[in-house]
Amino acid sequence: MSATLSQEVRDRAATLREEIDGHNYRYYVLDEPSVPDAEYDRLLRELQALESEYPELVTPDSPTQRVGAEPLAAFEPVRHETPMLSLGNAFSNEEVEQFHARALKTLETEHIDYVAEPKLDGVAMSLRYRDGLLERAATRGDGQTGENVTSNARTIDAIPLRLRGAGWPEELEVRGEVYMPLAGFEEYNRRMAETEGKALVNPRNAASGSLRQLDPQLTAQRPLAFFAYSVAGQSAISDSHFEILEQLREWGFPVNPLVKRVRDAEGCIAYYEEIGAMRDDLAYDIDGVVFKVESQREQETLGFVSRAPRWAIAQKFPAQEEITQLLDIDIQVGRTGALTPVARLEPVFVGGVTVTNATLHNIDEIRRKDVRVGDWVVVRRAGDVIPEVARVVLERREGRPKEFQMPETCPVCGSDVERVEGEAVSRCTGGLVCKAQRKQSLMHFASRRAMDIEGLGSKLIDQLVENDLVHSVADLYRLEKEQLMALERMGEKSADNLVEQLEKSKTPPLDRLLYALGIREVGEVTATSLARHFESLERLAAASEDDLIEVPDVGPIVAQHVHHFFQQPENLEVIEALEQAGVQWQALESIGGDQPLEGQTWVLTGALSVPRARAKQWLESLGAKVAGSVSGNTTTLVAGEAAGSKLAKAEKLGVEVLDEAALFELVRSHGIDPD
Ligand code: IVH
Repeated sequence: MSATLSQEVRDRAATLREEIDGHNYRYYVLDEPSVPDAEYDRLLRELQALESEYPELVTPDSPTQRVGAEPLAAFEPVRHETPMLSLGNAFSNEEVEQFHARALKTLETEHIDYVAEPKLDGVAMSLRYRDGLLERAATRGDGQTGENVTSNARTIDAIPLRLRGAGWPEELEVRGEVYMPLAGFEEYNRRMAETEGKALVNPRNAASGSLRQLDPQLTAQRPLAFFAYSVAGQSAISDSHFEILEQLREWGFPVNPLVKRVRDAEGCIAYYEEIGAMRDDLAYDIDGVVFKVESQREQETLGFVSRAPRWAIAQKFPAQEEITQLLDIDIQVGRTGALTPVARLEPVFVGGVTVTNATLHNIDEIRRKDVRVGDWVVVRRAGDVIPEVARVVLERREGRPKEFQMPETCPVCGSDVERVEGEAVSRCTGGLVCKAQRKQSLMHFASRRAMDIEGLGSKLIDQLVENDLVHSVADLYRLEKEQLMALERMGEKSADNLVEQLEKSKTPPLDRLLYALGIREVGEVTATSLARHFESLERLAAASEDDLIEVPDVGPIVAQHVHHFFQQPENLEVIEALEQAGVQWQALESIGGDQPLEGQTWVLTGALSVPRARAKQWLESLGAKVAGSVSGNTTTLVAGEAAGSKLAKAEKLGVEVLDEAALFELVRSHGIDPD
């Protein structure tokens, strides 16, 4: 027997439901989280407690009722009254132009407005609402018949159980994509790795696999989300597809904020470029964009061919993941002696380029992913990121290939390999004896952001090291024209040029020299902090670990590496030899104690023509904090080329946005030369 139900309790339950729905709406639809998770959970628990005390309060659309349905024996088939169609694909701008030209001809018009949308890589879903309540959710299946996955769909918080506002038709069928956001995918797999559970293969499979669980409790544990992209059949809501989407948003459906009206093929192609540039910054995988003729009247005139509409087309991006075979595992030795296992692959076209090598990171990663020579592997290349072996397709493994072992001696110099307790990396102990380490340190020393020695590339460095002309970076400055000319493929002019470039590089700012020396854990930003703090190489070399920790951004590990570096006689010899050869560092131009941006928080996004680390330094030297993401605290966003979601967010929050030119002007006005 439940206790008697007072009006007060009834009202409280209704208020709680409304509040929870409101938070869901702000979180999923408006993308503006309004309360911390803990507060949300508290409201939900209070409602759960009330409902368990007074079961008659429970309604099917209560947010407590997302989970709870019994596991099924099988999914029931569902016939789609309006078939769920697929889309034709365009793989080039020309194909988009042809699609547009055909539509112009049929419609006998000169311009067409389209709605352009990101094409999410998930699973299509049909959601039927009756009198504003979710009645049935179904997968696409073959387009005519899908599966009834209502209990599973109900567990997805982004799918409204009850519509908001008013004005919806008695029966409404909304279609959209269920997907797994990348953060959720990664977090889930991290958890599985810890508990030795089964990892998800990729976010797309994860979404479809999660929806096809017979036990809704399992689906509920998967971090799924949803974007609505259409209404089934012709809709009386509006003639405009864009307005239909806006209406869906008001009724409580998340609609992708990147959806946009565009005009003609040019507008479509520009949108494809725009979304392509932000693809790697998005919180979910997309495999292309979709263009839909905006007017339903025009859609009807255009009609269908077989199972795809003539009024919509998908323009695909190059795939970011492909499957290929792992031919071998090689070991590369880096500047600090780190041994990196590298996968040699059967060439495969992925992310717009042909990939033959991919990093395997380190032995722990190889073990975790259980990668073995001969396996079929998923290669991933997102944007400019180095291609990596993401995972093994275990189902395709043949026989029982051997586990890979890291070598015990360096494959280049034969020195012992050591692995420090608790570190994933194995290192060659050969130091400058090891030709691989020597070559890599020289490459680093000469690189653009270090000493910037033009013309000293990897081929030439190979020759210099192989011919024993250069042992340490200081030897570079002892090279003579005649020695260089004796090298293969080196003419007099190139030799002259190189000598000249070496001469030119002899007066680096102190921070660049520090960076060029290749001290472990000292990147450009730390190098500048150190240079600013100590103002001279001698003072830095004499600093204790305690002195070093005083420097902003320097923690105990960096302090230890820096201190250790200057304790090694061979490093001091190199520095002395550099000085003897005429290398003379320059003091950093003092910005003066002026901190005009003090108290401000800046964010950098998009592509800038200078390294982001440098722009960050300018701002920090003027007193600003530089953060990684836009929030209510952000003062200013610097948006470079193809800025993506951060720019959108800044605009939404009304944060000041500067372009690169404006940033340059600002720093110039404070005495920093950005060029
Ligand atoms: S419209 C007739 N819009 O792509 C129009 N589809 O091959 C049919 N998809 O299975 C779909 N994002 O799951 C449309 N913004 C979007 C989409 C989208 C992803 C998927 C959808 C469908 C497939 C079409």
